[in-house]
Amino acid sequence: MHGDAIVRVIRAYDDWVVRAYCWGRFGIVRQRFLDEIGRHLPPSGQVLDVGCGFGLFSLYYAQVVPDLTLRGLDINPRRIALAQRAAARLGLSNVTYEWGDAATYRADDVYAGAYMLDIVHHIPEDAVRPLLEQLLKGLASGGRLIIKDVDTRPRYKRWFTWCLDRLMDPRTPVRYWSAEEMEALLVEVGFRVRRETMADYLPYPHVLYVCEREG
Ligand SMILES: C[S@@+](CC[C@H](N)C(=O)[O-])C[C@H]1O[C@@H](n2cnc3c(N)ncnc32)[C@H](O)[C@@H]1O
Repeated sequence: MHGDAIVRVIRAYDDWVVRAYCWGRFGIVRQRFLDEIGRHLPPSGQVLDVGCGFGLFSLYYAQVVPDLTLRGLDINPRRIALAQRAAARLGLSNVTYEWGDAATYRADDVYAGAYMLDIVHHIPEDAVRPLLEQLLKGLASGGRLIIKDVDTRPRYKRWFTWCLDRLMDPRTPVRYWSAEEMEALLVEVGFRVRRETMADYLPYPHVLYVCEREG
């Protein structure tokens, strides 16, 4: 049934290049990982998707957890327009998209949860801490920020990821954080953090950070 939700998301885009990208993306962040991330999301309430891209994961969670209200932000206006169109096609009223720069994000509402999937390494290094502080500020008590990103080790996996990032967008610089470095920053900012390795047969050094706002 959840597999059907993935297929519906992919079919909601007209552009075959975007569809191909979505197949690839759902091949990387596949059902097992979607379930793993999804079990840390709240059952209801507002959830922020920072760097939502074409909206594929928020469109997925909007279908499988219908009591959530998802809000996606991305710096790329074309991606936002495609995400809005896909949401309308799917008849989803519990997901919205708007342009937003994570590097200058300010907490503007209270969220039951938030997530960032493969976005932190695209944010300028000095903007990451302020972003995390603002996300913490906007979380309801007990709310979670879920971050899925890549580790710097093993090195061959980092190089593999770097090549793909270059291929997808040769102009955008990337800054990879080691899992220890990222966890330390999250703790400094004030989150209680649980770090999980998402073991994969593909050469991705995936890491999941489950960050909780206490009190
Ligand atoms: C690797 S894609 C991930 C997209 C989506 N989270 C996913 O998992 O498919 C990285 C996304 O980050 C967005 N991005 C990069 N810098 C950003 C920024 N400063 N603020 C918001 N989005 C940004 C890009 O436009 C792109 O859509």
